[in-house]
Amino acid sequence: MSDFEEHGPLSALAEPTERDVESTLRPSRMSEFVGQPRVREQLELVLKGAQLRGQPPDHVLLSGPPGLGKTSLSMIIAAELGSAIRITSGPALERAGDLAAMLSNLVEGDVLFIDEIHRIARPAEEMLYLAMEDFRVDVVVGKGPGATSIPLEIAPFTLVGATTRSGSLTGPLRDRFGFTGHMEFYTSEELEQVLRRSASILGIDLPADGAAEIARRSRGTPRIANRLLRRVRDYAEVRADGLIDTAVARAALAVYDVDDLGLDRLDRAVLNALVRSFNGGPVGVATLAVAVGEEPTTVEEVCEPFLVRAGLLARTPRGRVATVAAWHHMGLTPPAEAPGEPPATAYGR
Ligand SMILES: Nc1ncnc2c1ncn2[C@@H]1O[C@H](COP(=O)(O)OP(=O)(O)OP(=O)(O)O)[C@@H](O)[C@H]1O
Ligand SMILES: [Mg+2]
Repeated sequence: MSDFEEHGPLSALAEPTERDVESTLRPSRMSEFVGQPRVREQLELVLKGAQLRGQPPDHVLLSGPPGLGKTSLSMIIAAELGSAIRITSGPALERAGDLAAMLSNLVEGDVLFIDEIHRIARPAEEMLYLAMEDFRVDVVVGKGPGATSIPLEIAPFTLVGATTRSGSLTGPLRDRFGFTGHMEFYTSEELEQVLRRSASILGIDLPADGAAEIARRSRGTPRIANRLLRRVRDYAEVRADGLIDTAVARAALAVYDVDDLGLDRLDRAVLNALVRSFNGGPVGVATLAVAVGEEPTTVEEVCEPFLVRAGLLARTPRGRVATVAAWHHMGLTPPAEAPGEPPATAYGR
C-alpha cells in the first residue's frame, strides 16, 4: 500500500488490530467479492469493454451506505485491470494543489481512488472536472493580477470515487462519471457466504446455523457481519465450548446489544425517539439527531438507510415517520394513522 494510505485519513477509521483484520478479510479479486450481482455485472462490462479497446475505462462512482464494499470494489477494479491504485480521500484534498500533485504523478492507466468524494473542497473539485474530461489541469501560479495559469497534461487515468452520499455530489461532478454503481444491502444468504469465507480465513469453526443467525442480524452489511463474527467467537471461546451454534450466537449478540432484527443501540435510539418523543413523527432529521445526541449526517448515512430498507422508517417530505412495524418492534401499539407495513424484506420478517 502507498505511504499515503498508511498515514492518510483512512488509517484513522478503526483501531489498528480491527483494521488489520478488516484488510485480511477484504476480497481482492472480483471472484471473491460476494453479492451485488447488478453492480458486478455492470462493472465487468465497463472494464472488459475498455480492455478490449485498449483504453482506460470510464470514471466510476460507487455509492451506498458504509461497509457494503465500496473500498473493496475500488481496489478490485485496479486489480482486475492490472493497474496501480493511488488512494486519497475527499477531506484530504483541501487545496487544489494537493490534487494537482496527485494527478501529475499518475501513470497511464492508473486508478485514482478518492474515498468520500462528496467531501472534496470546491477548488479541488473544479480542477477535477477538467482532469476527468480532458486529462489536463490548469495550475495557477502566484496570486492577484500577476497570477498565471499553467496547463499541465495528465496521463489518461480512471477515477474511482466512493461516497455514502451521492445526493450531495454536485451535478457537474456526478455527470462526469461514466458509470455509477449503487451498492445494495446484502441478503442473509449473501452474508452467510461472506461469513463462511471470513471464518475460513480466520480459522473459525462456523456451523451453518450459527452463520445463519449472525447473517440475519448483520444489518445487510458485510463489515458488520465480520465484526459480529469476531465478537461471537470471543463469546463462544470464553463462555461456551467454542462452538458457534444458534444459541451461542443469540446469547453473544444479546451481550453486544444487537437485537433480533440486527438493530444496534443507535438504530434503536432513533426509533425510540421517533415513537416515544415525537409520537411517530413526522420529525426533521436534525431534530431527531439532537434527540439521540448524534450528528445529523450519522443518523442520515449510517442509521436511516437500513431502517428504511427494513421497513421501519419512512422518509416523507415533512420529515421522518415511524411505520407500523417500528411501533411493534419497540413494543408499542401504533396509532391509527401510522404508515402501513411495506412489503416484507429479507430482514427477519
Ligand atoms: N462483497 C463482499 N464480499 C466479501 N466481503 C466483503 C464484501 N463487501 C465488503 N466486505 C467486507 O466488509 C469490509 C468493509 O468493506 P469496505 O471497506 O469495502 O466497505 P465500504 O463500502 O468502503 O465502507 P465505508 O463507506 O465505511 O468506507 C471489507 O473489509 C470486507 O471484509
Ligand atoms: Mg470505504
